[in-house]
Amino acid sequence: MSHIKAALLPTLALILAAIVLSAASSAVAQPASLLRRAKKQSFVPPSTSPEEQSDAYQGRNNGTLARQPIVPGKAFDRIIHVWLENTDYSAAASLATFQRLQKQGQTLTSFHGVTHPSEPNYMASAFGSFFGLHDDNFSWIPKNITSVYDLLDKKGISYACYQENMPFQGFQDYDNKQKNYVDPSAPDYTFYVRKHNPCAFSSTFAKPGTERYKRNRNMNDFAADLKADALPQHIFVTPNMDDDGHDSGISYAAQWVDWFLSDLLKNPHFNSERTLVVLTFDENETYAAENRILTLLLGNAVPQNLRGSSSDLYMTHYGILATTQANWGLMHLGRGDVDPILSNIVPFVAEAAGYKGNAQVPLEKRPLLNLTGVTAGPLTETQYQPFFAPTKQAQAANGAGGAGVLLLPGLDPNATPDKGPAPKNLKLTGGSSFYRSQANVAKD
Ligand SMILES: *[C@@H]1O[C@H](CO)[C@@H](O)[C@H](O)[C@H]1NC(C)=O
Ligand SMILES: *[C@@H]1O[C@H](CO)[C@@H](O)[C@H](O)[C@H]1NC(C)=O
Ligand SMILES: *[C@@H]1O[C@H](CO)[C@@H](O)[C@H](O)[C@H]1NC(C)=O
Ligand SMILES: *[C@@H]1O[C@H](CO)[C@@H](O)[C@H](O)[C@H]1NC(C)=O
Ligand SMILES: *[C@@H]1O[C@H](CO)[C@@H](O)[C@H](O)[C@H]1NC(C)=O
Repeated sequence: MSHIKAALLPTLALILAAIVLSAASSAVAQPASLLRRAKKQSFVPPSTSPEEQSDAYQGRNNGTLARQPIVPGKAFDRIIHVWLENTDYSAAASLATFQRLQKQGQTLTSFHGVTHPSEPNYMASAFGSFFGLHDDNFSWIPKNITSVYDLLDKKGISYACYQENMPFQGFQDYDNKQKNYVDPSAPDYTFYVRKHNPCAFSSTFAKPGTERYKRNRNMNDFAADLKADALPQHIFVTPNMDDDGHDSGISYAAQWVDWFLSDLLKNPHFNSERTLVVLTFDENETYAAENRILTLLLGNAVPQNLRGSSSDLYMTHYGILATTQANWGLMHLGRGDVDPILSNIVPFVAEAAGYKGNAQVPLEKRPLLNLTGVTAGPLTETQYQPFFAPTKQAQAANGAGGAGVLLLPGLDPNATPDKGPAPKNLKLTGGSSFYRSQANVAKD
């Protein structure tokens, strides 16, 4: 596999050059949202436990997912991603909650977000790319562009996103204001935001009545699915803007983690003998430094002899995508998930799957992943390019699942980045990208 990785190096060199250039030319200020972040101290549980539906949320569950046959993986049968927000490695690692959890699982000490701000990181986790996105604004991805959900569908592996305070399943709006259950004397509050929801980005999740539409779910749906023992095999949990630390700070988020995980780790409908929980952050808070974040592997799938241990293998969000591929022998997306530097997978999964592609990345080869506002792509106005097919080298790669690349109907495999038009500044002509308007989703 390493010769394939080597073939991708020229692409990476270009990306690195772009990053270095941008780092030299821009002193990027902290976004106002971070500066304004109030340090709320006291976590308010939305219900007695995450196993119970909550009236703090707007909608009650309207029916659970159908139980699907379990497709066995090589190291785990269920993966549960839990993402918190904007916290530096050291800030998280200093708290008792995370220190306690570290003893129950494995800590990845050299794990990185792939960019700033939030939305492109959530996007990258499911699509292997952020397509030039460098803000948190409305963006969508057309149906010929693969995501992890297409890879899972190919093998009949069930999935869902569970979004705290999303008002109802399939919800498509940019955000949602509702009664403030944390501080009832305060005005209505935006607890749910689309930018943190990987099941919201592709137009394939936007059509009411489809299977995918109902896999974009909220936490009352989670409670109901859990009770019915119908939790899918691939899960993404996004706590609300207070509970994930975004609007509140890390000690508040730690209290949510205690509330959310303490019972669930003992619940066999959640933590079966073969469950892997990946507790991580989207990005670190300090933009002016490398984007290292604390990542914990929890759940019964973590081998006994590794509990309390750590791994310093260089990893990124793309590596969790590749880990999922290795576990189930999935096809790949041909993007960051096969990048030679950025796609190391969880070591114990590599061992179980017989994957030989992991290699430690020396410090001088590690790219700066704290860039913001520089790469070209379909989700930026200033350096717009169309959605491309993966590079020919990436199309030829085996990927961590050893199953080759997935290309969907409607994708021209020859429309690769080297054949495409140069980036265009749409702002000069007063335009914006087609993929930045909610009104266009229905046209796809
Ligand atoms: C993104 O949204 C912000 C705030 O709504 C707005 O000021 C900005 O112009 C938007 N950027 C683009 C590229 O649409
Ligand atoms: C259930 O359906 C009703 C009516 O369509 C809706 O108002 C409610 O929000 C839904 N609840 C959930 C959790 O989707
Ligand atoms: C990224 O981190 C490097 C190293 O700490 C720093 O020199 C650079 O200014 C940062 N870039 C941004 C955009 O903050
Ligand atoms: C963000 O991550 C980098 C890389 O590990 C680290 O050097 C930096 O200290 C982090 N930021 C803070 C403030 O901890
Ligand atoms: C993917 O679909 C979009 C929208 O239909 C189209 O503009 C684009 O050219 C397609 N990309 C490729 C590589 O075929």
